[in-house]
Amino acid sequence: MPTDSTIESALRYEKNGALAWIIVDNASRLNALTAAMWQALPRHIAMAVADPDVRVVILRGAGDKAFSAGADISEFESARTGDAAATYDALNDAAFSALITCPKPVIAMIHGFCLGGGLGLALCCDMRIADDASQFAIPAAKLGIGYNPRWIRPILAAVPPSRAKELLYTGRRFRSAEAEAMGLVSRLVPTADLEDATRALAGEIAANAPLSVAAAKRVIDEIARHPETPDMAALDAAVAACFASDDYAEGRRAFLDKRKPLFKGR
Ligand code: COA
Repeated sequence: MPTDSTIESALRYEKNGALAWIIVDNASRLNALTAAMWQALPRHIAMAVADPDVRVVILRGAGDKAFSAGADISEFESARTGDAAATYDALNDAAFSALITCPKPVIAMIHGFCLGGGLGLALCCDMRIADDASQFAIPAAKLGIGYNPRWIRPILAAVPPSRAKELLYTGRRFRSAEAEAMGLVSRLVPTADLEDATRALAGEIAANAPLSVAAAKRVIDEIARHPETPDMAALDAAVAACFASDDYAEGRRAFLDKRKPLFKGR
């Protein structure tokens, strides 16, 4: 059971041991994301980052129908038209950025609908584990929305340009198997196994040396974003910090003692 919980609009933060769960909870609208929820997300991420106990962040939807059906369209008339549209997109963008720049690993646990901004959110996570009843789409063109250019990179990090175009040109819903085949999803599991499989994956990561995991994340993201000009000095420093850490000494000792290492993240 969660040991620490706060409620902020309809985005909930629950800490359970080394795992921080961020739960999109707007069940009557299939977990559609409101402006207040976009605004809350960076604060939740900051809380997980600041908490030394938290090793992995997991994003999920409440209930059994949806991860998220995207931005809450019922707000668009008042909050996403005219001059307000840029303000709204900036809030949405700050939420995506908070996920992308989170130094701790972030997993999206996806069941049911994963649409529009919901899929955008999932694509900003490090991994996407989904159930076999999930459906994916970016229906911006069905609503006349111009898809923010800043949000294309996470799509292209997962799928080739022709698939990104198919997603955006058609706006149609892709079933889970198709989403996995095209690369939108990193792992597909039966619905009944989704939560256990996600906890197992998160637990496996949480048991490892946090500095090693953080360095791997930093290196992979930096090289993926700047393939020609990665900041090698920063990446070398992240790796050097692992070699200089107490956890490296603990890892070596535990191996020789034939026991599980107990890592502290320093
Ligand atoms: N924003 C606001 N409300 C939403 C929503 C969204 N993105 N997605 C679903 N809802 C609401 C519906 O309006 C409905 O509310 P109501 O009961 O008051 O009428 C409720 O959630 C249930 O949705 P409903 O459409 O009745 O369920 P369904 O199973 O028939 O269809 C979807 C599910 C996801 C296919 C359909 O709701 C849909 O297309 N939603 C919009 C998806 C979208 O365009 N997202 C991108 C936004 S940028």
